[in-house]
Amino acid sequence: MSQDAYRLTSPSGSEMELPVRKGTVGPDVIDISRLYKEQGVFTYDPGFVATGSCESAITFIDGEKGILMYRGYPVEQLAEHSSFIEVAYLLLNAELPTATELAEFDSTIRMHTMLNEGMLSFFKGFRYDAHPMAMLSAVVGSMSAYYHDEMDAANPVHRDIFAHRILAKLPTIAAAAYKLNVGQPFMYPRNDLNYCENLLHMLFAVPAEPYEVDPVAAEALDLLFILHADHEQNCSTSTVRMAGSSGANPYSAVAAGISALWGPAHGGANEAVLKMLDDIGDVSQIGKYVDKAKDRNDPFRLMGFGHRVYKNFDPRATLIREMCHKVMEKLGRKDTPMFDLARELERVALQDEYFIEKNLYPNVDFYSGLIYRALRIPTSMFTVMFALGRSVGWAAHWREMIADSNGKISRPRQLYTGPVARDYIAVDKR
Ligand code: ACO
Repeated sequence: MSQDAYRLTSPSGSEMELPVRKGTVGPDVIDISRLYKEQGVFTYDPGFVATGSCESAITFIDGEKGILMYRGYPVEQLAEHSSFIEVAYLLLNAELPTATELAEFDSTIRMHTMLNEGMLSFFKGFRYDAHPMAMLSAVVGSMSAYYHDEMDAANPVHRDIFAHRILAKLPTIAAAAYKLNVGQPFMYPRNDLNYCENLLHMLFAVPAEPYEVDPVAAEALDLLFILHADHEQNCSTSTVRMAGSSGANPYSAVAAGISALWGPAHGGANEAVLKMLDDIGDVSQIGKYVDKAKDRNDPFRLMGFGHRVYKNFDPRATLIREMCHKVMEKLGRKDTPMFDLARELERVALQDEYFIEKNLYPNVDFYSGLIYRALRIPTSMFTVMFALGRSVGWAAHWREMIADSNGKISRPRQLYTGPVARDYIAVDKR
């Protein structure tokens, strides 16, 4: 047997060698693609806990050690020295840009921020209280109705154009959804502002008076977007890959990813954290809620705690906690009691046997909601903000998937537990 193979013996005694594939870092992978053909069995792994769905060179996570790297660069270094636009370039193009490449990329994104006026009119059709995630996924899906001339997945130039459009136009769509919710006029993008400044302008400026972007607010958003930019094969990114694997256009695939992100176990968690902190209300109630989270018969979980991959600490949570301090100092005095409550809840939970034993730590969403709140971004927009950061990861993964020569339509198998074959019974005999 090759050293790089697993030997599998079936109940009937037949043997098969399963090749082992090695990545650059991280655990080896057993290649089971021949298993069904040769042994007639499938594997069973609900939630893909131990299954790699693809080969990828974009992002690496070591959940035990709390490591997150984009294209090999530790996220802490990118958070300290880089910007969201530079990170976007890195994720899409595999290397950090030169100064000229960065300037060109930045300018390209700035030049694509406007929406077709027809697309803007969609917002008139939504109710004033429509959830912004519903509007985001609908309008992003409808981008394919505007850009069908440049959606040929086999054309690398079209793939670039798609990535630029998604990155540049998502903030404009998000801001339009917000303006509809608050009943204010839509603000056109300003290309003299950088990515996050422009987003803040579109969200909070009004035609009646000048608006000055707060540099701490722009810096906090930039950090949050860097930290949310990619997270390898998470639920929404896997959804984008899966939808795109059928050859569906990339805007539809990203719209599917946005829908997946909306769930409370994924992007909806920071919204749930604030609701939970509101419910807890006071430090005196923390013990009661921690007990509820530990009670197997109670569905309540501490929102913003635990992660499928990080079983030690979430490096993003540490960076966000620091930024949260800075934002509270400058902008969030009235939210300080909630921040203090969150820190105390974290302290109590981290000392509790249940959370220690199950390796449950604050995740990226535990503090991000507090920052958004201090920035006056309403809770219904939290997942939208996550989507803006993650859009570049979705675009990078869609492009990688399309360019993969081994790519196949994603089509998992199942363990069937329904009825065995039976004959149809006419309706009058049932
Ligand atoms: N509070 C209390 N108990 C928890 C929590 C929590 N937040 N998270 C996990 N547990 C417990 C589970 O009850 C389970 O206990 P058991 O072994 O006795 O059955 C054990 O820890 C393992 O939990 P699983 O749900 O099996 O772990 P999984 O990896 O499937 O789930 C998840 C990860 C969904 C993030 C989970 O920890 C959770 O629901 N957290 C709260 C929601 C949240 O913060 N989501 C954001 C994730 S980050 C992101 O998407 C950007």
